[in-house]
Amino acid sequence: MNIFEDKVVLITGANRGIGRALVKALLNQGVRKVYATCRDLDTMSSFEDNRVTVLSLDITKDMQITTIAAIAQDTEILINNAGVINAGNILEGDLGGMDNDMSVNYFGTIKMMRAFAPILKKNNPSKIINIVSIAAYSPLPSIAGYAASKAALFSATQSVRIELAKEEVEVYAINPGAIDTDMNKDSDWDMPDPESIALKILESVGDGKFDIVPDEMGQGMYNAWREDPAKLSKIFSDLYYGENFK
Ligand SMILES: NC(=O)c1ccc[n+]([C@@H]2O[C@H](COP(=O)([O-])OP(=O)(O)OC[C@H]3O[C@@H](n4cnc5c(N)ncnc54)[C@H](OP(=O)(O)O)[C@@H]3O)[C@@H](O)[C@H]2O)c1
Repeated sequence: MNIFEDKVVLITGANRGIGRALVKALLNQGVRKVYATCRDLDTMSSFEDNRVTVLSLDITKDMQITTIAAIAQDTEILINNAGVINAGNILEGDLGGMDNDMSVNYFGTIKMMRAFAPILKKNNPSKIINIVSIAAYSPLPSIAGYAASKAALFSATQSVRIELAKEEVEVYAINPGAIDTDMNKDSDWDMPDPESIALKILESVGDGKFDIVPDEMGQGMYNAWREDPAKLSKIFSDLYYGENFK
């Protein structure tokens, strides 16, 4: 069964990367309407589909969130995809960057869930799909603020899942490993493209899984963590100190 058919979806950060790929995948799955939002509408290329309504939204701006929630009252699926990444470790990294990671990835997403919870309750059965990260499980000193913000978001997602459990609003956490988007533009790792990940995300949500790791690298990290969190720490310690994986 295609659970996205005829649904109304709102997605943040839809102008590029995973967000843009999700819009295209959703259109191919027969959604009724997509509210494709992003900060700067000049950066949104056309999806050439009249089911797409393009809206301007910075998820750190309370007034903009209120405006969008008033417009998108028919939303049945909220996809919180917008995110930022700032480099730096805990002891010496720029605190401004860490603050930005938390403002967007954690507080911005929480504000979106708060604004849309009444709408999703009204339009139930409905869904919140949060694009978190495998960083939620991972000690990553070179992007420590990002990892902390995603760990916080993963925790918030688990909490909201329980808070909305009796309201027929399902809450999903998507925890990818490295994907080939602007976020990884300086990396030479072999990474899956956002289009294949978008398809995998929609397929996994359709299968009714609530915590989803949509790619192989992420799965490897998740399995190491499940076996023993110290095993995942060792992988990232070796990476941080430039040693080979053992
Ligand atoms: N790529 C990966 O390896 C990876 C792995 C795990 C999880 N993720 C997560 O996947 C999501 C999408 O990332 P991506 O890989 O597609 O990266 P991306 O290409 O850098 O896209 C990030 C998106 O977030 C938007 N954004 C940033 N700050 C925002 C704000 N304050 N309000 C609204 N939108 C904002 C960006 O808009 P602008 O164009 O205006 O900057 C852009 O559309 C993020 O949450 C990221 O953490 C990515």
